[in-house]
Amino acid sequence: MTIELVSAADRPDLVGPAEKMGGSLWPPYISTPAYFEYWNDLYKGDLARFQTIAIDSETGTIAALGNCIPFPWQDDLPDEGWDWVLETGGNAARQGTACDAVSALSVGVRPDHRSSGLAQRMLEAMKSAARAAGLGIMVAPVRPTRKHLYPLHDFETYCGWTREDGTPFDPWLRTHTQMGATFMKPALRSMTVTGTLEQWQRWTELRFPQSGIYWLPRGLAPLEVDLEKGIGVYTEPNYWLRHPLD
Ligand SMILES: CC(C)(COP(=O)(O)OP(=O)(O)OC[C@H]1O[C@@H](n2cnc3c(N)ncnc32)[C@H](O)[C@@H]1OP(=O)(O)O)[C@@H](O)C(=O)NCCC(=O)NCCS
Repeated sequence: MTIELVSAADRPDLVGPAEKMGGSLWPPYISTPAYFEYWNDLYKGDLARFQTIAIDSETGTIAALGNCIPFPWQDDLPDEGWDWVLETGGNAARQGTACDAVSALSVGVRPDHRSSGLAQRMLEAMKSAARAAGLGIMVAPVRPTRKHLYPLHDFETYCGWTREDGTPFDPWLRTHTQMGATFMKPALRSMTVTGTLEQWQRWTELRFPQSGIYWLPRGLAPLEVDLEKGIGVYTEPNYWLRHPLD
């Protein structure tokens, strides 16, 4: 099986199908205000060359999508990881502000192409795009893929778990560290999703008889429901990792 990697700048015709495939991999509630405001900008102008699409050459179908965004570096990365970096990078692109760093935003590999090294290739493609643009730093607010299966353990405890060989317990954190990435700091408010109770019912098939916290399918933290206000708030923690770019 041959997988070809192209940028969205090279193949704008593939952006629609790639977004359709990539979007299908995420929980239905992962859409924050920053996403609605800036996500489509990733495929416009200079940002398009940072978006990587993997095509299965045999079938012509989309095997993976990787998104990242340049941003002006700051030493103290904030708790609002993913939302912050998408907004900061998005504004930098709109205003023509110089950037010296890149942040991964998402890697989505179609289930039948997983465990093949493709996810790592997608991260390598982000690094290549960053190097080609003269950016010297790469970070990622990482969403550990198995955290949702361990809802009773707090986020930082889970991220600190290791296997017997000393590598991270979580497979996605492990893939990053096997590429040389290092843990920087938690981003405990990386994505904030606020929805009406009707929206949360639709997204989760749960019902909310009282205010308080609820287990959330595929969530990395509980959903907080406020019946008086008629809203639910999900605050997703991620972990800032830094990748070597040399
Ligand atoms: C996160 C995601 C991209 C990871 O993709 P993946 O293919 O499952 O993961 P990896 O490439 O890291 O590899 C998984 C396994 O394949 C193994 N592998 C890696 N390269 C390989 C190769 N060339 N041949 C065989 N196996 C390989 C890895 O060692 C790993 O095995 P391990 O768990 O025993 O260590 C994928 O699960 C996904 O799309 N999830 C939905 C979206 C998401 O949550 N994205 C992450 C947040 S941005």
